[in-house]
Amino acid sequence: KKDVYILAIESSCDETAAAVVKNGREVLSNVISSQIALHTLYGGVVPEIASRKHIEKINYVIREALAEAGMKLEEMDAIGVTYGPGLVGALLVGVAEAKAISYASGIPLVGVHHIEGHISANYIQAPELEPPFICLVVSGGHTHLVVVNDYGKYEIIGHTRDDAAGEAFDKVARAIGLGYPGGPKIDKLAKEGNPDAIHFPRAKVEDAPYDFSFSGVKSAVLNHLNGCKMKGEPIVEADIAASFQKAVCDVLVDHAMQAVKDYGINKLALAGGVASNSALRAAMKAACDKKEIPLYYPAPILCTDNAAMIGAAAYYEYMAGTRSGLDLNAVPNLKL
Ligand code: KG4
Ligand code: ZN
Repeated sequence: KKDVYILAIESSCDETAAAVVKNGREVLSNVISSQIALHTLYGGVVPEIASRKHIEKINYVIREALAEAGMKLEEMDAIGVTYGPGLVGALLVGVAEAKAISYASGIPLVGVHHIEGHISANYIQAPELEPPFICLVVSGGHTHLVVVNDYGKYEIIGHTRDDAAGEAFDKVARAIGLGYPGGPKIDKLAKEGNPDAIHFPRAKVEDAPYDFSFSGVKSAVLNHLNGCKMKGEPIVEADIAASFQKAVCDVLVDHAMQAVKDYGINKLALAGGVASNSALRAAMKAACDKKEIPLYYPAPILCTDNAAMIGAAAYYEYMAGTRSGLDLNAVPNLKL
């Protein structure tokens, strides 16, 4: 059987990334040019700055990905690229680049859904993992509970009604003065705090057992801060971080385990930036151990945005016969 090599490109938000992936699971290179330091100056991602940085970096990142893999462009079987969801100007840079390379080289083009990429990061981490499994996708822009029935076959059974989990982390971090991006900073500070110090709400959405709502817990943190200021009580950031994190993790674990039980699928995976949260991993592991089911999660570098995960997803799309035309466009609100 011939090996299949994918050159993958990701530019949906604030990372310019390219990777070479062999047979969907083996990462030969995974180059990421992060713009985080730049956006930190503004407290969040500034879309126009993101687009401008992507266009500056993308050719270098691709060249480096091929060089690190020790391969030539002509050896690639397909070009995989994220075409949505994400920031339109940011997506357009990767899509235009991938189309130009495909047009010039004649190598087939495969458009990839960003969330399908996050889910597929688990295939890289765990070579033995195969569908069906339940996947909790928790990132800065998305919170989905997904039944992965087969490669490329997804059923979304739950989603957030308001803020994404990562968005809640980022907003709370900003409120307690930790800066952007907040997730990793809350993760770190929470280790010094008491997770039972403050009770923050665990929201349930009526008649939708797998849906999420994180705006309430975010508001509760803001109310707590205001309350402390008005009463002249000290603000203990570490306790707030730990208590907030526990409230979010409790809900994520509860919903995911409910889905495992209801669907009778005894395999759970985590994906997206928040999947690198140490408290979430520990709590989910404990819940899965209790039920004696395996839990999968990618290494932190494969949880946050990267192109290797896009290469993994592109491989399964390519093998299933998916090909994109030169009219491929960026779709900011692309559905899974
Ligand atoms: O997947 P990702 O890189 O981008 C999106 O597709 O949205 O996720 C970024 C999000 C940010 O909100 C960031 O704060 C969060 O993931 N994040 C974390 C951790 N590391 C990243 N949240 C909690 N704990 C972490 N350790
Ligand atoms: Zn992402």
